[in-house]
Amino acid sequence: MSSQDTPGVHDVLVVGCGAMGSQIAMACALAGYRATAFDLDAGAFDRAAAELRRRLDRDVAKGRRDADAVTEAFERLSFTTDLDAAARRADFVIEAAAEDLEVKREVFARLDALAPAHTILTTNSSAIASSRIADATARPDRVANMHFFNPALVMRCVEVVGGPETSAATVATTTALARRLGKDPVVLRKEVPGFVANRILGAARDEAVSLLEQGVASVQDIDTACRTALGHPMGPFELMDLTGIDIGYRAKLARYAETEDPADRPSRTVTELVERGELGRKTGLGFYRYADDGTQYPREDDGTPR
Ligand SMILES: NC(=O)c1ccc[n+]([C@@H]2O[C@H](COP(=O)([O-])OP(=O)(O)OC[C@H]3O[C@@H](n4cnc5c(N)ncnc54)[C@H](O)[C@@H]3O)[C@@H](O)[C@H]2O)c1
Repeated sequence: MSSQDTPGVHDVLVVGCGAMGSQIAMACALAGYRATAFDLDAGAFDRAAAELRRRLDRDVAKGRRDADAVTEAFERLSFTTDLDAAARRADFVIEAAAEDLEVKREVFARLDALAPAHTILTTNSSAIASSRIADATARPDRVANMHFFNPALVMRCVEVVGGPETSAATVATTTALARRLGKDPVVLRKEVPGFVANRILGAARDEAVSLLEQGVASVQDIDTACRTALGHPMGPFELMDLTGIDIGYRAKLARYAETEDPADRPSRTVTELVERGELGRKTGLGFYRYADDGTQYPREDDGTPR
């Protein structure tokens, strides 16, 4: 089924069935679309199905979702390693494969050759503007960024970004689809590295690290200020430890490669942590120290964070 807002959109194809793609596909199925998740690695499907089942069963148990609606959504969701067949029937594609420009350009060229002429091709990339991919297709007017946040079934923001050649109709349909998924779409008026939300998050994180490096306040006190004065659910250092300090480091390196602005270079503190392999929760040490049960403690060793 489709809504009046997304006329002609019945089948949504999600390319890449990892952390993001699996939940984006499920969000589409829950909204009433026929959703197909494609991956090169069939092993991704068992992992995705188990995780979706666990998450949605929990939502049903907590009364957040209706059991019948969830059962029907699972019936509308399918997994495939056959891109040709899936692309041929797709009205709308959301690519959530590896964060690599060449991979995305190859995927889009192939989708362009396979999908019907009306099909809109979007990317969930966190950093790659769709105009860098659109010229791999013969339909640059039907290519855009559709950027979800993790976990995609929960987070309500979806950033919609058109490039110089993206048509107004493509932006309108992508925005309408996001709304139909129960999201609050944010439409950018132009392409900018990092889009809106991650730029603001990055600015807060950079300021926090700068205050730390200037010796103004401790890791814990800066996090406390963000939680108790600004109402952030988590301080910037806790958040970097949670997402992985290497992830932000790599994002900054990629941004720096694009802009060549020294302000986009990773900070000394973050670089040192990455070089020592102290990447946050996943390694037990980052801006904080973590016990085996996940309990967070201040660092008392002679590592840089204070
Ligand atoms: N993880 C996040 O917090 C987050 C948030 C927003 C956007 N994103 C973006 O979403 C995309 C996916 O991220 P993720 O965290 O889900 O990654 P992931 O590693 O969990 O999943 C990626 C999946 O894509 C598959 N894949 C790789 N190359 C492929 C190809 N050519 N064709 C089909 N499948 C392919 C992999 O097998 C894997 O299952 C990236 O572009 C990333 O920047 C991630």
